[in-house]
Amino acid sequence: MSVKVVVGSLWGDEGKGKIIDFLAKDSELVIRAQGGNNAGHTIVVNDKKYALHLMPSGIVRPSCYNIIGDGVVIDPISLMKEIDFLKSQGVNCDNLFISNRASVVMPYHILIDKYSEEKREENKIGTTGKGIGPCYMDTVERSSIRMVDFLDISEADLRRILENKNEFIKRNYNDDGVTIESAIEELLNAREYIKGYITDTTVIVDRFLKEKKNVLLEGAQGSLLDVTYGTYPYVTSSHPISGGFCVGGAVPPNAITDVIAILKAYTTRVGQGPFVTEIEDSIAHYIREAGNEYGTTTGRPRRIGYMDIVALNYSIRINGVTSIALTLLDVLKGVEKIKICTAYELDGKTIMHYPASLKELERCKPIYEEVEGFHEDLTDVTCYDDLSDNAKKYVEKIEELTGVRVDIVSVGPGRHQTLVRQK
Ligand code: IMP
Repeated sequence: MSVKVVVGSLWGDEGKGKIIDFLAKDSELVIRAQGGNNAGHTIVVNDKKYALHLMPSGIVRPSCYNIIGDGVVIDPISLMKEIDFLKSQGVNCDNLFISNRASVVMPYHILIDKYSEEKREENKIGTTGKGIGPCYMDTVERSSIRMVDFLDISEADLRRILENKNEFIKRNYNDDGVTIESAIEELLNAREYIKGYITDTTVIVDRFLKEKKNVLLEGAQGSLLDVTYGTYPYVTSSHPISGGFCVGGAVPPNAITDVIAILKAYTTRVGQGPFVTEIEDSIAHYIREAGNEYGTTTGRPRRIGYMDIVALNYSIRINGVTSIALTLLDVLKGVEKIKICTAYELDGKTIMHYPASLKELERCKPIYEEVEGFHEDLTDVTCYDDLSDNAKKYVEKIEELTGVRVDIVSVGPGRHQTLVRQK
């Protein structure tokens, strides 16, 4: 039995979908525990590409149960479209279960997300615009609609809630808000479509744990986007760290056996916020194009930087990481010297910790070590030992600087391009 938690090491987009799909072959249950359709997890099966947003990445494996857990915020209209699309691709989704405790992202959350971003002017967070923050705000404020209540909400109650929110939008943003009748129609239509999937998922989780099955908790976003531990306020509104998945996935902390950090061979970030190892030169351009570093959800070009061991070690500490899966190593092919940031210089002092203060972070300068790059195409490599010496040296340098073993190396989007290192 194993209960593996998969976390994004830094700011998300590390290739979690692919690794979860790979690990799901030995898992009986995959659980999404936080975030919503702000996530974008890409899976490639037999050259067919699936871009998932709300759906757990085990969905394409029929024998694997998939839960959208209690801590997820769910846009029912978007979920309906995602299920519908998957069905059209031959994925029947009979293995999907949706928590009745999850909060519903309403059309007004999406509007409020947009208007509050506009109001921030030059201090925009760069949200995905999916209504995630406003929905979590309502949840914490205790005015969200949970799935269990959405199932039997009357049309009259729905209309009253929409009218109230429209008044709020008028007052705060001088806009008419959502078109009430069409919003009701769309919401009720989506409810009809998804209602068969909604259940008390805590019961399923408990059963799988008691039966000592293999469970995977799938993180969305990344640890440095955590609302407490991330680069606040340039963060998402949930807890994409290992502890957060216990809260949102109904898995008790003492059940967890492994914490696997997905780490990109370079670093990316979308949206605003500090990024000490960011580069904007020709290497950044090269990596962006070679790695197709454009958002799965928003299409935005991602910011690019070198490996940041200071940020990574912080993430390893707060997550209790037991193993690393290194992704997109193939993308670094042709980069002459690969830089690794091993410390920061802050006001003339060398520091190894990740500052909480954004002002300090903005003053931090990366202190780099360099390793030789590699020129070989890695995408056909099928076993770790066959990687070129320089590629292996880079992997081993990361292990040396973190004290955590890299157990998986990914050299392409396909399932077969996943190298599992022998223990
Ligand atoms: P929100 O989650 O849409 O509120 O956006 C808050 C911040 O998190 C923004 O900087 C987004 O770009 C970032 N973010 C949200 N979801 C993802 C993701 O799946 N990958 C990477 N960044 C994300």
